[in-house]
Amino acid sequence: MEKKIALAMTGASGVIYGVRTVAALLARGCRIDLTLSPAAREVLAEEMGVTLGSPPALADLWPHPSGLTYYPPTQVAAPMASGSNRYDAYIVVPCSTGSMGRIASGTSDNLVGRMAEVALKERRPLILVPRESPYSTIMLENMTRLSRAGAIILPASPGFYHHPSDINELVDFVVGRILSHLGFSDRPGPAGWTPKAP
Ligand SMILES: Cc1cc2nc3c(=O)[nH]c(=O)nc-3n(C[C@H](O)[C@H](O)[C@H](O)COP(=O)(O)O)c2cc1C
Repeated sequence: MEKKIALAMTGASGVIYGVRTVAALLARGCRIDLTLSPAAREVLAEEMGVTLGSPPALADLWPHPSGLTYYPPTQVAAPMASGSNRYDAYIVVPCSTGSMGRIASGTSDNLVGRMAEVALKERRPLILVPRESPYSTIMLENMTRLSRAGAIILPASPGFYHHPSDINELVDFVVGRILSHLGFSDRPGPAGWTPKAP
């Protein structure tokens, strides 16, 4: 059965993790409701040279965006903001430490925070992919708090034992960990992980 995913990209470095996660999920027939924080757009422009309009031309990032629906982060009445709409998983990738803190303290002020708090209150899978170094004690406490509340803290910490030969293979190590938490069986192995995504 096709999975329905709520996915947010925020302004941590490594926006490519979000881009390739979306691509991998679309390639596996998932339906994705997507939002991007304003900072995610800035990092996208900085790191990938992609400046998205409003509304964004999704095909600029994903050549075959059928199954993908975009909602602005201000649209707190979007489907993923309501617990009545069931998603198989909620993912924030990458997850800035700012968004992490807001989610941990339950002070959501946009769709990213709201969808995460819905996941927690409804006891549905929530995967947060932070990227920061080093972590402050406050960041670590926020992550511990969220982990205790049921979130999966899946840091953007790629392994190297699959001998990645380029950045995409490195990134796809983390994407593979996300997919495996969603029940997709393909994952990185000793011979490397060949993504089905473009
Ligand atoms: C180029 C760039 C790289 C950034 N890298 C990180 C990062 O790796 N981790 C992080 O937590 N914040 C990072 N930030 C800071 C966040 O974007 C900033 O805290 C922002 O307010 C987060 O907002 P958001 O959570 O609504 O996306 C970066 C910002 C820029 C412009």
